[in-house]
Amino acid sequence: MIAIGSDHGGFRLKQEVMAHLKEMGIEYKDYGCYDESSCDYPVYAKKVANAIVSGECEKGILICGTGIGISIAANKVKGIRAALCHDTFSAQATREHNDANILAMGARVIGPGHALKIVDTFLNTEFSNDERHIRRINMIED
Ligand code: RB5
Repeated sequence: MIAIGSDHGGFRLKQEVMAHLKEMGIEYKDYGCYDESSCDYPVYAKKVANAIVSGECEKGILICGTGIGISIAANKVKGIRAALCHDTFSAQATREHNDANILAMGARVIGPGHALKIVDTFLNTEFSNDERHIRRINMIED
């Protein structure tokens, strides 16, 4: 199960990502926001982050205008490794090296076509399980 959330700046792109996940047969849960009224991105970052650390969802996708605020907020939750990615190379690398559990994107930075490729890359790339990457992730957790 994928947890997904956005603020008003990311609302429209989130709708496109959810339509894409549905088409791909990937289950998701939308943690808001639910319209384009101005709202506060930390609220949705926290909801999605908590869904992951509680084990309710396996990975998350967070979208705001830039992807910056919402990723900063999500990374305050212990156990969360939110990666802001605007290219597929980063999306692949952050899964392989950082075992990132949240993908953050900025709807005002990239278009939907590119964003969906980034989502696919993030969701389809496994963690490398390499000892040096495990060590570094443990250092972050400590
Ligand atoms: C909202 O206007 C905007 O600040 C927000 O979506 C995001 O870009 C913050 O980092």
